[in-house]
Amino acid sequence: MAEQSGLSERLQAIRAQVEENLQKIADSKSIYEYRKSVFDGKVGLIGSLMREMGKIPKEEKAEFGKRVNEIKNWAQEEFEKKNSVLKELEMKKRYEAEKIDITMPAKMRAHGNLHPVTQVTNQLIDIFAGLGFDIYEGTEIEKDYYNFTALNTPQDHPARDMQDTFYLSPEFLLRTQTSAGQIHVMEEKKPPIKIISPGKVFRSDDDATHSPMFTQMEGLVVDEGITLGDLKGMLDEIVQKIFGEGTTTRLRPSYFPFTEPSVEVDVSCFQCGGCGCSLCKGTGWIEILGAGVVNNKVLEGCGIDTEKYSGFAFGVGLERIAMLKYGYNNIKLLFESDLRVLSQIDD
Ligand code: PHE
Repeated sequence: MAEQSGLSERLQAIRAQVEENLQKIADSKSIYEYRKSVFDGKVGLIGSLMREMGKIPKEEKAEFGKRVNEIKNWAQEEFEKKNSVLKELEMKKRYEAEKIDITMPAKMRAHGNLHPVTQVTNQLIDIFAGLGFDIYEGTEIEKDYYNFTALNTPQDHPARDMQDTFYLSPEFLLRTQTSAGQIHVMEEKKPPIKIISPGKVFRSDDDATHSPMFTQMEGLVVDEGITLGDLKGMLDEIVQKIFGEGTTTRLRPSYFPFTEPSVEVDVSCFQCGGCGCSLCKGTGWIEILGAGVVNNKVLEGCGIDTEKYSGFAFGVGLERIAMLKYGYNNIKLLFESDLRVLSQIDD
């Protein structure tokens, strides 16, 4: 049978070209692209051959179709072969790149500590829990009523000047003292009451020993026959537990509207050992705690029978405790998030 003119040569040339191009291809993505172009039904080197069928004389059609199929199958195979070789190479490369050396030392992560104030808070919670105290968590936004009025500090009371208050509205403020929690507790619960209440408080106050935001822990005990002696006994125990034996304290008469009598508790200055320095302003003592016997007016305001019950309360600044315990000479160190400072304390 006469061959369509030049078909063999053409097919030969196509093979040669495909072979040559395949040799040059070095990645599976390019092979995919090239394969697509070769088999393209319109313009592809092989793909377009079938379109010529119409022009082929009838008697040559069968032979033509056969030869075209042959070259198609041949090309498919060549592509497959090349593709699997390249795929294998690529996988090898990838495994190489992604290889993990499990004998390598692990990257060390810097581990953090709890903030010193949190550490002190937790220690105090432990001590007080051991003495049978419950924890009450108040809110940082308070009503003026709970922060002042119900604590025997009405609107025009001069004691309001003792604390520079951040008011949010005439009715709401950022609590200046955790004492606000005393009232909530006494409204919710009847004696016997024995709670501590740690939390943030806010005052417009800023120097080496004061910060506009600081942390307090309130304590409140209400029961039958509670006296200042109970307060004193408990404080002695607590202070020894926090600062160790030998820490000295002193009680000074003081004034708070919600306690009567009121006391201020000082501990001996850690920086100078009591001789007097700039931190303790030459006195040898640092004030850490306000306390007193709960004023009857406050108890009565909460519906507690003062014939039967009495109580004591205290409020302690936890930054102060942290400063004393860990030797910080400036309260700012506790608010600057300097890891060199914070990472030193792991108590
Ligand atoms: N709330 C007082 C203060 O912040 C401390 C205090 C609490 C005093 C309880 C007496 C009783 O200064």
